[in-house]
Amino acid sequence: MTTSAQIIDGKLAAAEVRAGIKAEVEKLKAAGVTPGLATLLVGEDPASKIYVASKHKACQEAGMASFNHTLPKDASTETVLKKVHELNADPKVHGMLIQLPLPPQVDSEKVLEAVSPGKDADGFHPTNLGRLFSCKDMKEIYARNIPIPCTPLGCLVLIEKSGIRPAGKTAVVVGRSLIVGKPVAALLLASHATVTLAHSRTEDLASVCRTADILVAAVGKAKMIEGSWIKEGAVVIDVGINRSPEGKLFGDVDFEAAKERAGWITPVPGGVGPMTIAMLLKNTLALSKKR
Ligand SMILES: NC(=O)c1ccc[n+]([C@@H]2O[C@H](COP(=O)([O-])OP(=O)(O)OC[C@H]3O[C@@H](n4cnc5c(N)ncnc54)[C@H](OP(=O)(O)O)[C@@H]3O)[C@@H](O)[C@H]2O)c1
Repeated sequence: MTTSAQIIDGKLAAAEVRAGIKAEVEKLKAAGVTPGLATLLVGEDPASKIYVASKHKACQEAGMASFNHTLPKDASTETVLKKVHELNADPKVHGMLIQLPLPPQVDSEKVLEAVSPGKDADGFHPTNLGRLFSCKDMKEIYARNIPIPCTPLGCLVLIEKSGIRPAGKTAVVVGRSLIVGKPVAALLLASHATVTLAHSRTEDLASVCRTADILVAAVGKAKMIEGSWIKEGAVVIDVGINRSPEGKLFGDVDFEAAKERAGWITPVPGGVGPMTIAMLLKNTLALSKKR
């Protein structure tokens, strides 16, 4: 039996999250605290500038303060570290994010580690990742107020939108990067799914994917996951953003074929993408409440 999958609307889900955040920001402001996010961009990369601008616009719409810091593209590691220390000490800044990638002469690891874990809006600080991995379940992660990497948290929220509870389900995450695949796997594990983390050396990926009640694709290869790899009724979360030479966006999943087998599926664009910024605001709000 094949019926077309229900589409998980990331734009709508993100708008709902952002409306909730706006209401909470108003309450905090009434109590005298304006949540503030600082961004640090090194260089002039056009795509990074667009991403940073959209984060500031989102802060503005949520009623949050935002502070944009830009350093020249030839800035040294020491110059970047000095700025990070300044922002760590600034009481108006509750959350901070370093726009990646940093230019090659800058030691990214040193810079990311210099961000105070209590201001880590992206959730990439090793201390926070360690805390995340040490938690038994999502309840503990939320109770300890650990900043969660934004795109992975967006994936989890979208899975919850499908109404499918991960507990006891088989989940397959394709891609093991530190910013997407690994934390998504950690969150699904903390949600009590049985998790397989697949990657470029995985043998017979098609068969592995066919076991998935929940399939998360975070590879960066357009339409790599074929329709026949999808288990009937599965929840399919497509993190991939791949641009064709004509400028059209595609996910990692062959959407048209996969939606004939999946139960729920996210589109690209309009799926995971909008959730990432919403989760950044969520983290910033949580960090401002914590302090
Ligand atoms: N929607 C959003 O907001 C958002 C946010 C972040 C990223 N993204 C998108 O998500 C995608 C992944 O991003 P990323 O930063 O995680 O990428 P990444 O760091 O390049 O990691 C890609 C992963 O895919 C695996 N892989 C590559 N080829 C494979 C194959 N043939 N079979 C199975 N696994 C394969 C790699 O395996 P190995 O480890 O073995 O090399 C690696 O773990 C990209 O399209 C990116 O643009 C979207």
